[in-house]
Formats: sequence, C-alpha cells, structure tokens
Amino acid sequence: MDADGFQVVRGKKASRRVRIPTSQLAGRRHVRIPTSELAGSNREKEDDGQIDKTIKKINERLNEIEESEYVIRVRASLKMMLSTECGSEHLELDGFQKDETDGYSPLCHTSLNPDGIPSACNTETQQVSSSELVCYGIGSLISSVVSQYQLSLLMILRKDLQLPQQCCYVYDPVLSSADCNILTLLGYTVLTINEEGKRTVTKPTLFYMPHCGKALYNNLLWANWHIDKLKYVTILGNSFTEMERSTPKRLLEEEAYYIVKVLPFITEHPIENTFHFGDIFNNLSLHVIGENELNTADQSFWDHHPEPHYKNDVDIIQTRS
Ligand SMILES: C[S@@+](CC[C@H](N)C(=O)[O-])C[C@H]1O[C@@H](n2cnc3c(N)ncnc32)[C@H](O)[C@@H]1O
Repeated sequence: MDADGFQVVRGKKASRRVRIPTSQLAGRRHVRIPTSELAGSNREKEDDGQIDKTIKKINERLNEIEESEYVIRVRASLKMMLSTECGSEHLELDGFQKDETDGYSPLCHTSLNPDGIPSACNTETQQVSSSELVCYGIGSLISSVVSQYQLSLLMILRKDLQLPQQCCYVYDPVLSSADCNILTLLGYTVLTINEEGKRTVTKPTLFYMPHCGKALYNNLLWANWHIDKLKYVTILGNSFTEMERSTPKRLLEEEAYYIVKVLPFITEHPIENTFHFGDIFNNLSLHVIGENELNTADQSFWDHHPEPHYKNDVDIIQTRS
C-alpha cells in the first residue's frame, strides 16, 4: 500500500499498475485480480515474492514475541482460565504440560522451518481435536504489520492448543489470494464464506478476534444463544467491559444487545499490553462464559433472541446490507 492509501497491484506489464483505493477493497469478500487481466507467470512471480517476503516477516515477528512479557501474560490468563471450574468446560491446552517449577510450561516452541512452515506442525498425522480455534478480523498479512504480529500470537496459541489445520479457521473479507495462500501454508483453514461471525460452535472454541467491531462479537453471541453453546465460547478480543464503559448504554443496547446481555455472566481477564508497540495487542481480554453463571439466568434471558441487524455499522462487512 502506498502513502496515499492505495493498494498498488502490478498488471500484465511491469510498468502497468492498477491502483485500487483501499476503501473499495474493504467491501470485497476477497481481493482477487481476474486472471484474464494478468499474465499468469508475472502474477504468480509477484504473488510468490510477496508470500515469501511476508512469511519471512511473520517468522521474525514470531521470534520477537514468543518470549515476550505480553505472551507470558496471555498464557498466564489461559492457564488461569483452565484452573477455574468454568475453564474446565472450555479448552484443553494440550500443549501445556505441568512442570515442577511454575505449574505449566509450553510443551514445544512454535517455529518455522526454512520454508516458513511450522516445523512441529505435522497436520496430516494429527487427529481431529476436541477444541477449535477461529480467528476473525486479522486483516491483510501482506499489507499490515499489525496483522503479521497478531498472526504470530495466533500461531503461538494454536501451538499451545495443539490444534491441527482442520480445527483452525481464519476469515477476514479483506484477505487477498496471497494472504489466503500464506495462511494455508502456515496450516490454517481459510473460510471461503463470510459468516458475519455467526458461527455456531459444537465444541470448546477459542475465538481470536483482535480489534474486531462490536457487531462481530454480537453476532457470535447471538449464533450461540443457548447454554449448551455459550459455555463453549471463549473470546480473546476487545474488552467487553471497556466497550460497556466507553459506549452510551442506549447505543450499546442498540448495536450490541447480546454483549450487554451476556456481560453479567462473563469472566473477563484483561491482558495488560506490555508489548513495545502500543497498537497491536492493546485492549485485548480473554472472555470466558461460565456454565454455572449461565444456569442462574432465567428463561426470559434465553427466550428473547432476535437476529441482529445493523444499519450503518462500519465495523462489520456483511454479505448483504
Ligand atoms: C479494526 S480492523 C482490525 C484489523 C486488525 N486485526 C488490527 O488490529 O489492525 C477490523 C477487521 O475486521 C474485519 N472484518 C469485518 N467484517 C468481518 C467479517 N464479517 N468477518 C471477519 N472479519 C471481518 C475487517 O476486514 C478488519 O480487518
């Protein structure tokens, strides 16, 4: 992307450039240049070059954050969640093993081999796990440094959860085909349809949604508005408490009814952003919805669950308006 906010896409000839305003890209399900417009070999070379460069960058970011204070805090929050009663209803950190010093330590380090593929991630031989990991709203890896760092954290979480490719899903409407290739190479299943966050869980699932709009969280809660579903939902995303604090009540009820409803039943673990960049992991919390707490809700809590509709919400890209 150049300085004036345009994504530069090179065309058939090296000199021909197609400039697409990023505002237009945001509305597309996938950013793809029709093959007829580009010479296959040039385009493939360009894509390959970008993919290699970006994977190298992600590898560097991964090395940078892996031992960071921030990642230690994220792991501590996950560990705390698991040690609570409600945590046991949720995820199994198969990649964490007890040690004699501080209880848990990561079983294996996340690392990429020289080709940029996670070295300890032999997805073919792994069994389908009892948990899932879903990431919405990561942004474009090719064009965003923030997204590259956020993906590095996803890779660490995934390694800790020991999840195979078929249990790790990523979706963002702004992902380009090169972004999708990177994610596939790194062992993620890229969703091909825009679920608008309305994914109904069937097993304990960690949703990693860094800096997503309220509507996406709201849709996710709506889609799982049943005790047997919500108890499986864990969200690492923008602090719900902060949303409540910073948004006028009437507006929040209008825009994010299910967040308001679920707040009393959520345990939120804020993760202090100690990372040296302030805009990558800021304002993220781990949200756990406890079955015991949900059991105290009366029937009317569950009965009224209209599907959310958004008028002018700029925070979510929908399949229809
Ligand atoms: C505020 S940006 C955050 C991007 C990045 N995570 C960051 O922190 O810079 C919100 C992201 O949500 C994505 N998004 C919007 N609608 C979505 C949808 N229906 N499903 C998944 N992601 C969506 C946007 O494309 C965008 O990348």
